[in-house]
Amino acid sequence: MTLRIEDIETERLLLTALSYDHSEAMFRLWSHPDVCRYSGTVTDYDRNEIPMPAASREDSDKIIDFWQRATADGWGFRWAILECSTAQMLGHIGFNSLGPTSELAYHLHPDHWGKGIMSEAAAAAIGWALTTKPGTKLEAFIEPANTGSVRLAQRLHFSPTGHFSDGAERYERAPSIPI
Ligand SMILES: CC(C)(COP(=O)(O)OP(=O)(O)OC[C@H]1O[C@@H](n2cnc3c(N)ncnc32)[C@H](O)[C@@H]1OP(=O)(O)O)[C@@H](O)C(=O)NCCC(=O)NCCS
Repeated sequence: MTLRIEDIETERLLLTALSYDHSEAMFRLWSHPDVCRYSGTVTDYDRNEIPMPAASREDSDKIIDFWQRATADGWGFRWAILECSTAQMLGHIGFNSLGPTSELAYHLHPDHWGKGIMSEAAAAAIGWALTTKPGTKLEAFIEPANTGSVRLAQRLHFSPTGHFSDGAERYERAPSIPI
């Protein structure tokens, strides 16, 4: 069952379904070592590993293909995060799973770190999940050394659970906490 991904506008950003329109910016994002450092293994839809940082647009396009197929299969998706003032894609955010538990994941180009961009995008994404999937428990998996992501998750009211998977700690956000 194909997911319908609505656009969301925030103060500075437009979240819109990730597509091949974003191919060039996807390569800028995924060819940057600081984006890949704590992002685990990246695979195409057939579970073949894509070596990271991406060496070519062909490789980063496989990530777009992955999320388009996940959207068509109904289990996860990505919004491209566009800056309204420039229409530039800064990163992406979305869900690795959707259901009783939904896993939030986010990636931003380092040129834009530390300006509250992901706090703004994540608040919108969480708001969407709380409205569209009432009662869903939000989770995120974060390596302890990824201090930026740990701070972001805590600011968004995710709490560490002490459970680890592939070196990443599971964080969880109670559905009862409003955004
Ligand atoms: C993690 C990430 C999304 C943060 O995005 P961001 O837009 O810079 O975050 P914000 O500006 O909204 O900041 C949120 C909080 O994190 C802090 N922060 C952001 N980057 C940080 C860094 N590199 N080191 C320490 N703290 C950082 C901010 O100061 C802020 O803290 P505060 O609430 O105490 O003020 C971004 O660094 C990123 O994309 N990293 C690479 C991909 C990645 O690791 N994704 C997560 C995988 S789990």
